Amino acid sequence: MNIAVIGTQFGDEGKGKIVDLLTENKKIKAVVRYQGGNNAGHTVVVNGEKHTLHLIPSGILYKDKTCVIGNNVIVDLAVLAGEVKVLEEKVGKKHSEILISEKCHLIMPWHKLRDELSGAKIGTTGRGIGPCYEDTVGRRGIRLFEAIDSKRFKERVKEELSWNKKLIKAMGGKFNLSADKIIKDCRRNLNEIRKNQLIKISDTTDFLTGLMEKHQEVLFEGAQATLLDINHGTYPFVTSSNTTIGGLYTGSGFRPRNLKIIGVAKAYTTRVGEGPFPTELTNKIGEKLREVGREYGTTTGRPRRCGWLDIPMLNYAKQINGLDALAMTKLDVLTGINPIKIKVGPKLSVNLSKIYREKIIYEKLSGWKEDISKVRKFADLPAAAKVYINRVEKLTGLAVEWIGVGPERDQIIKKYV
Ligand code: IMP
Repeated sequence: MNIAVIGTQFGDEGKGKIVDLLTENKKIKAVVRYQGGNNAGHTVVVNGEKHTLHLIPSGILYKDKTCVIGNNVIVDLAVLAGEVKVLEEKVGKKHSEILISEKCHLIMPWHKLRDELSGAKIGTTGRGIGPCYEDTVGRRGIRLFEAIDSKRFKERVKEELSWNKKLIKAMGGKFNLSADKIIKDCRRNLNEIRKNQLIKISDTTDFLTGLMEKHQEVLFEGAQATLLDINHGTYPFVTSSNTTIGGLYTGSGFRPRNLKIIGVAKAYTTRVGEGPFPTELTNKIGEKLREVGREYGTTTGRPRRCGWLDIPMLNYAKQINGLDALAMTKLDVLTGINPIKIKVGPKLSVNLSKIYREKIIYEKLSGWKEDISKVRKFADLPAAAKVYINRVEKLTGLAVEWIGVGPERDQIIKKYV
């Protein structure tokens, strides 16, 4: 069975941990990122050591798997080279092979500047994500296979630089870098990446098709989440790619058969950046969730906004992605809060004027006081924690197959084994 792991809320649900866990399965041969860029951030904790990844798929610590960066991931060469360097300083060559699609678009320095000049209203990560995708659909982007061809790359940088200088001036900024400097920097990073024997730039669709033909299994790792999807999210407070299931097909270039789609939800909700957040808590409970849950952005370090669990949001994610099951992370963070509220209505709408006016219906559930971080069996959870999970299952019609009770790899309860 192939598996897709998708965020059901506003991102940062702990998808990295679930992907890391599922990758343990011997049958999984590859882990694929298919959209987004280094706006994402995954933290994988192994033996107490924290690995923070932005671009590299979460399966990287498994030597016998292949990590794939699919065609609709946008790549900042400096970030990729840097991320590999930091990783290898910690684990040496004990990481999996990385295949990067030659069709990936590059995040160029002008994208970052344009993001800085225009992204504040949305609270973007400032990594050049929106402007790079703008150029992708505007047919002005530079792709990895063009960067490999030195002559073509020089021409393309010069063409795009002249257009970007005008654009940035019109936006009230100034672009100081020369074409020579940009080309030199990109080439240095590209050479660094290409000389690494564990990294290959190639046709990743061919690779994945080959795996499927051999009936080998693949895990697809979504970045960001359903409510940040460019089409289905709280537009315009969204990222610029399809974070929902459709992005898997366009971003990997093929359709996997036998796909199980797992939605990851935190036991509460967080959002980083601007935009509507119906269940947001701007009180002491919100602060407690932020401090106990260490809710600070992996990529930008910004404090995350925190709030109650939103069941209509999970049902929306179920509908848009065709979810088969849920993984619920960070249940331990709710310990000591009493009562716990969950939003049960109205139905989620991404029409902003509606969201801001809606009257929220909450259901109150009893909290628990016991430390659950060492619990490994569902039966051993306090009764109120069991009620919480069972209520989520009832209201979503989805099985909560995994329950996270702490950041470590083994702090997980598998409810149905
Ligand atoms: P961008 O993706 O940098 O353009 O940012 C657009 C919006 O998506 C902002 O509100 C960001 O905070 C949010 N965002 C982007 N990536 C992530 C992520 O990995 N987790 C949570 N929010 C994200």
